[in-house]
Amino acid sequence: MSEPTEILLCEDGPMLVRGQVVVEDEDGQRHVSTRPVTAVCRCGASSLKPWCDGSHKLLAAGGPRARRLGSV
Ligand code: FES
Repeated sequence: MSEPTEILLCEDGPMLVRGQVVVEDEDGQRHVSTRPVTAVCRCGASSLKPWCDGSHKLLAAGGPRARRLGSV
């Protein structure tokens, strides 16, 4: 049995996913990341969508605070 995918939601920031990630965008284009941990944009401001480029920091004062919500 493989390990469950671990996801960390950052308040006012990205979704961090541990392990390989494939994101399919609204146009059906698939984006693959093989990084150990990938930051997926949740704010919509990234110029590297679907990946986070740090632009969320400009949107929210105080920066992100990571909050562990569990595994899926
Ligand atoms: S969550 Fe970081 S740029 Fe959108």
